Amino acid sequence: MLIDTHDAPERSIVFDQAADYYDQTRGLPAHVLEQIGQLMTGAIGKPAARVLEAGVGTGRIALPVLGASSDELKYIGIDLSVPMMRKLQEKIAHDQKAESRLQLIQADAMRLPFADKAFDAVIEVHVLQLIPRWRAALKEMRRVMRTNGVFLHAHASDQHNDAEAWSPWIETRSRWRAILREMNYHSDWAGVKTDRELLDALRGEASTFEELPAIRWTHTDSFRRVLRFIAAKQFSDTWRVPEDIFLESLRRLEAWMQEAHPDMDREHSMTRSYTVFSVRF
Ligand SMILES: C[S@@+](CC[C@H](N)C(=O)[O-])C[C@H]1O[C@@H](n2cnc3c(N)ncnc32)[C@H](O)[C@@H]1O
Repeated sequence: MLIDTHDAPERSIVFDQAADYYDQTRGLPAHVLEQIGQLMTGAIGKPAARVLEAGVGTGRIALPVLGASSDELKYIGIDLSVPMMRKLQEKIAHDQKAESRLQLIQADAMRLPFADKAFDAVIEVHVLQLIPRWRAALKEMRRVMRTNGVFLHAHASDQHNDAEAWSPWIETRSRWRAILREMNYHSDWAGVKTDRELLDALRGEASTFEELPAIRWTHTDSFRRVLRFIAAKQFSDTWRVPEDIFLESLRRLEAWMQEAHPDMDREHSMTRSYTVFSVRF
């Protein structure tokens, strides 16, 4: 059954156009996913929990949690994007057990089609930056959580292994944003602007706030790869930039990169980390 409740005046960023490349571009190593699944399952605690993931996407988080948890745990994923959830459905098409434990509903995190206190846990990963009235969405997620239920948030960060250098991702993206500002165009996340802002909001409302041990791994990337990623509009914050402004910003970004990092293909070694936060309100 599909329930469409997407009538918010300020629209969230819906990922329909990313469905075909999301897993290739946002994938995490298998051992990292496994650890995320274990950490989240441990934080949920109760084997027969009812868990909601707001903005479930292609199941990058849902599948590891289903894999790590007891067969009694029920996972309900909502998303505004049917193409994203279809990818998830395809992945479990031959796994009857997973299929029976997972329910997917097209819905808006701003107006969840569930009763108050219906869930033992709510998971939110990389979604509140896409929702303009993100505080209202957070309140809505809290509404459907039982008293003393657990709210799980996670985010990634990147650090260059040379202490003096920036990650190509972070440096290039902040340069691109600065170029847009120079062009008088303000590109920012539609919802919460930084992880810090979200963590401060959660901490401010929490009765307990726990940062679980970070999962760390090494990876390499080049500046050219980041440039290609932006040029191919694979970041959602490129989607709303008018085409003429986008093309000019890209031209300036490439000129900056040729000057600042002439060896664009050099592979830089970085430590990436993923951190899960467990919050009770
Ligand atoms: C960056 S993806 C994250 C997916 C998944 N949580 C993960 O970590 O891979 C964000 C997802 O949130 C969805 N989304 C954006 N705004 C939403 C809203 N207001 N309600 C429900 N889903 C939303 C998008 O369509 C997209 O599938």
